[in-house]
Amino acid sequence: MARLDVTEMFHGISFPGHLHTQDSLQFALKFPFQDSDILIVSYPKSGTTWMQEIVSLIFSKGDPHLSQNVPNWARCPWLEQYYFSEVLGSSPRAPRVITTHLPYHLLGPALVGSKARVIYVSRNPKDVVVSFYHFHKMANFLPEAGSFPEFLNRFLEGTLSYGSWFDHVEGWTSQTASTNNLLHITYEEMLLGLHGAIKRVSSFLKCPLLEDEVNNCVKHSSFNSMKHNKMVNYTMVAQEIMDHSKGSFMRKGKIGDWKNMFTEEQNQYFNNIFQSKMRDCALEPVWEE
Ligand code: A3P
Repeated sequence: MARLDVTEMFHGISFPGHLHTQDSLQFALKFPFQDSDILIVSYPKSGTTWMQEIVSLIFSKGDPHLSQNVPNWARCPWLEQYYFSEVLGSSPRAPRVITTHLPYHLLGPALVGSKARVIYVSRNPKDVVVSFYHFHKMANFLPEAGSFPEFLNRFLEGTLSYGSWFDHVEGWTSQTASTNNLLHITYEEMLLGLHGAIKRVSSFLKCPLLEDEVNNCVKHSSFNSMKHNKMVNYTMVAQEIMDHSKGSFMRKGKIGDWKNMFTEEQNQYFNNIFQSKMRDCALEPVWEE
C-alpha cells in the first residue's frame, strides 16, 4: 500500500505533510482565538482523544449522543490541519473546542491577551514513545517506524513528527504558574481516578455536573466504551491512512506498557536523558501503576 508519509518541515520541526501544509501551520500560528475557546493541547499519544471525549461529554452533561454520532475530529478539530477552518465552521457546538499538538514556543504568541482556556494533557514519556511507535506502524501518514531502538533515539533527539517531547512539556507546563487559564492534567491522573479528573476538568470549564452526570461521563469515556465507539476509535478513517490490520488506535490504555519494550540499558539511558533535560521542570511522571 502506498505511503502518504511526506514530511513538512516547519520552524525546524517535522509534521506529517498529509495533514499539515506550510499554509495551515502558518494559519494556526496567527489564529484569532476567542475568549470562549477551549484548547486541548498535547504531545501525540498523551491522551488527546481521551480528553476530546471527556470535554465533549462534560458539555453534554454526560449525554453520549454527540460523542456517538459525530466524529471526534469534527467535535474538536485540529488547529494545524489544512481542513481546520472548514470543520470548525460546521462544528456542532459552542464553545468551540479546538485541539492542537503545537508546542508552546510556536503557539504561545497567538494566545497572548486571550482568555481562551487551555487543557494541557501530558503522559509519562516512556509510555508515550511506546504508544507512538505502535501508532507509526498503523498510521501511513507518518514515517516508517523502523526498529524500536532507532525510534527511541529519534524520540530522545526530538526528531519525530511534532518535535521534542521535552520541549513540548516544558514549554506548556511552565505557563501554569503565570495563568489561571491553563489546566495541566496527566494521562495517569485520568487513568488512576477518572471520576476526580472529570470533576477537575468540569470545574475548570465552569460547567458544574451533578454526580449522575459525572458518572455518565466516566462510563462513556472509559477505555472500553471508546474502543467500541467508531466516532472516536478512528476505524472510520480510510485504511490507506490508518491501517487497522496493523494495530488499533485504542491499543492498550495502560500505565507502564514501556516495561514490555525497554531493555534495562534503554531504561537507564532514558532516565539519564530525562534527568538532564527536565532538571528545571517540576514534573514527576507516574511510571507505573
Ligand atoms: P496506548 O497506545 O498506550 O494504548 P492520543 O489520543 O493522544 O493519540 O493518545 C492515544 C493513547 O491514549 C493510546 O494509548 C490510547 O489507547 C489511549 N487512550 C485513549 N482513550 C483512552 C481511555 N479512555 N482510557 C485509557 N487510555 C486511552
